[in-house]
Amino acid sequence: MCGIVGYVGSRPSESILLSGLARLEYRGYDSAGIAVIDGDGHLGMRKRAGKLQVLRDDLQHAPLADGTSGIGHTRWATHGGPTDVNAHPHLADDGRLAVIHNGIIENFAALRAELAGSGDTFLSETDTEVAAVLLAREYHANGEDLEAAFRATVQRLDGAFTLLAMHEDHPGLVVGARRNSPLVIGLGEGETFLGSDVAAFVEHTRHALAIGQDQIVAIRPGSVTVTDFDGVAVEPEPFEVTWDAAAAEKGGWSSFMAKEVSEEPEAVANTVRGRIHDDAVVIPELDGLDDLLRGIHRIIIVACGTAAYAGQVGKYALEQWARLPVDVELAHEFRYRDPVLDEATLVVSISQSGETMDTLMAVKYAHERGAKTLSICNTQGATIPRESDAIVYTHAGPEVAVASTKAFVAQITALYLLALHVGRVRGALSAATSAQAVAELEAVPEKISWILEAEQERIAQLARWMADSRSVLFLGRHVGFPIALEGALKLKEISYIHAEGFAAGELKHGPIALIEPGQPVFVIVPSPVHSPVLHDKVVSNIQEIRARGARVIVIAEEGDAAVLPFGDEVVRIPLAGSLFEPLLAVVPLHIFAMGLAEARGLDVDQPRNLAKSVTVE
Ligand code: F6R
Repeated sequence: MCGIVGYVGSRPSESILLSGLARLEYRGYDSAGIAVIDGDGHLGMRKRAGKLQVLRDDLQHAPLADGTSGIGHTRWATHGGPTDVNAHPHLADDGRLAVIHNGIIENFAALRAELAGSGDTFLSETDTEVAAVLLAREYHANGEDLEAAFRATVQRLDGAFTLLAMHEDHPGLVVGARRNSPLVIGLGEGETFLGSDVAAFVEHTRHALAIGQDQIVAIRPGSVTVTDFDGVAVEPEPFEVTWDAAAAEKGGWSSFMAKEVSEEPEAVANTVRGRIHDDAVVIPELDGLDDLLRGIHRIIIVACGTAAYAGQVGKYALEQWARLPVDVELAHEFRYRDPVLDEATLVVSISQSGETMDTLMAVKYAHERGAKTLSICNTQGATIPRESDAIVYTHAGPEVAVASTKAFVAQITALYLLALHVGRVRGALSAATSAQAVAELEAVPEKISWILEAEQERIAQLARWMADSRSVLFLGRHVGFPIALEGALKLKEISYIHAEGFAAGELKHGPIALIEPGQPVFVIVPSPVHSPVLHDKVVSNIQEIRARGARVIVIAEEGDAAVLPFGDEVVRIPLAGSLFEPLLAVVPLHIFAMGLAEARGLDVDQPRNLAKSVTVE
């Protein structure tokens, strides 16, 4: 949460900072600000509550003086509401020092009391201003050496933070530090960038350096130094960004979410690409790990939100194909209940951003307790994969809309690949089952494309009709259950309508009391061909709710005639094996949530109160 950008070079920094912030706005969008050191060596700063556009308008009306270095911030409020005063940057040393921050400084109250006790005053309610004031003190205590002062400051901070700072006395220098919060370096020709992720600078350069935990970076035009918190030099790890700036542009779509839903077929295809050999799954990143995979006795999947629902789908595949017991845990619950972990446990984390603090902490905890860790992640150079023993990247491309869509189908795909890979390595999977699963997986992108072409407009129309609904329920069974949960999450997240997902069999144990005449209920119907028993049970569940007046929207396989009489609306998905149905059934639910939010005139990309990358616990 919070997007951070820094620049030093020879070009005017304001427009570089603002375009970097535009690409990072998904990380937080309740206020934004920049600080620039101008040609006369003065530090100018502007910050405004509201979306980035409010700041842009303000700067257009009253520009800052030109400069070639600066820092910028887009905020998701933690300490103090989203006001002009609480927005970043925060200034200290008589306005000559500017600081921006992502994360939470846990000992800020004690530090603030200490500084106030020695005469310092504060304008804002933020933890960040405390860091700025402390840095100003250290600056003078360390002979006005900004890097030394920065080292002394970060050593006194507890919690999670990425901090950037610049001082009028040192134009052309931006210093940064990270602890449990992201920061990457971009290397241009005679210019250097810092960003919360590569999106901040990908339009200028694809050459990047990853900064490790508890490291400090100092950037100058065309040069970078990285040290640990004690000042010992370390070598940052170089990497190339594999996608270009256009991949993170809207490109004519009404929203990033619309674009990203349209990219679901590619997200699956790209995640599968290069991982199939002779009808078997071989994940190159897991080369050399066969002994590790043979030695494990159980898997625990840790993730949050949509990624956790992908994990719940993946559990079915891992149990079926790899024959390993699998538990799926919300990452934020996992480490607070003393779970039983040993070196025969593989903890699989799933994260689009690779920065979700709850998931990161769960991975670190698992590692400390001796478990093996594997990360399924969509973001190169992110913290979670760097903290894990093994990585399987999803190749969904950059996901900008706050609500996760294409990453979800890519995560399920990666879990299926992992299940097939582990099943093969452990000898739990027959060649015939593997070949059939591979063929099904390879057919998924085309089937999703069919849904997008054949059903999109009808689902969007349904969403428009239902724009005034007060509550929508979602039912599923087996792999359809986590899809029901995902459908409900997506709807509440972007349309602010109450929505709940249930296992269809659970309804009669309580939730059926919610059904009253006209209550809309989506039901994901299992395949009559591949899961006839479950299919018939779900059809019975539909009859139970219709008898109580529910308005039923069924998501059913083409050719499923038995369900037709019971659906007020029927959305078709192509025929697929049971385990592959989730990858198809979720697509109408993503389209529906988006259509309904649009019909209510809401911002589908930036829903209220949320941020894409949740880097606080
Ligand atoms: C919902 C959504 C969130 C994320 C969750 C985990 O649409 O996007 O529930 O799935 O915050 O985020 P990552 O995958 O980045 O760890």
